[in-house]
Amino acid sequence: MTTQQAHAIQVRGVEKAYKELQVLRGVDFTVTRGSIFALLGSNGAGKTTLVKILSTLLKADAGTVRVNGFDVATQAADVRESISLTGQFAAVDEILSGRENLVLVARLRHLKDPGRIADDLLARFSLTDAGARKVATYSGGMRRRLDIAMSLIGNPPIVFLDEPTTGLDPQARIEVWQAVKELAAQGTTVLLTTQYLDEAEQLADRIAILHEGRILVNGTLDELKQLLPPAKVEYVEKQPTLEDIFLTLVGADGKNGDAGKDPISARK
Ligand SMILES: Nc1ncnc2c1ncn2[C@@H]1O[C@H](COP(=O)(O)OP(=O)(O)OP(=O)(O)O)[C@@H](O)[C@H]1O
Ligand SMILES: [Mg+2]
Repeated sequence: MTTQQAHAIQVRGVEKAYKELQVLRGVDFTVTRGSIFALLGSNGAGKTTLVKILSTLLKADAGTVRVNGFDVATQAADVRESISLTGQFAAVDEILSGRENLVLVARLRHLKDPGRIADDLLARFSLTDAGARKVATYSGGMRRRLDIAMSLIGNPPIVFLDEPTTGLDPQARIEVWQAVKELAAQGTTVLLTTQYLDEAEQLADRIAILHEGRILVNGTLDELKQLLPPAKVEYVEKQPTLEDIFLTLVGADGKNGDAGKDPISARK
């Protein structure tokens, strides 16, 4: 396999400003096919901005992005056919039932047998029993699962999830995590953004921290853990949590910054 095929997503030198506000200052990373990649960052770090660029909703000022081998700037239609985007805020219709929402999207995509597609997805996301009920009666976790299910209609190989569990209770988060893990197990590439460190720890094959417009670190959880020496507590060796790593790198006040070079890449 060539590197181009191995990488579902390739981001090089992406910059983006909103007027004087420079949000992205040269973002680089790649995502391997079939893996889960978590983009971690504080409020306002630029996660949604980056996801919008990757999904062709926003143009970068500089840099290149290839998604499923297609250039977002020159092959936007091909990129759109390769992806789905579940935004930060749920996009389900409250008045319709869960099943009707799914059927509607399948119809809009001109797919054959929308009813069967809807029933398959309801089953996959444990929503069969709730399928006939109005979404207005769903819990937050059920809505989020339905939202993700809707984005999977048409089986896109690459899925973007922008803060899939923000605002959910612990049980609902676990349900969404399960759904995301199943997606990846079936070979879908998942790029998710999150502010939750435990979410990245639970789900991601690789974790990148976006801070002050750049990727501060990018590695597996184990690689990130090696950036900090484990603290010794009596006789028990304590592994640093991702939260320790995040706060050390980003600075507890959010201003610090061992910013600049990615320490993992720099080691290689
Ligand atoms: N359309 C816009 N016009 C001007 N500024 C914007 C626009 N969209 C985002 N910004 C600013 O760009 C910065 C990055 O925003 P973005 O939404 O990408 O952050 P985020 O990492 O997704 O944050 P959150 O975790 O709160 O969702 C913020 O300072 C935000 O105010
Ligand atoms: Mg956001």
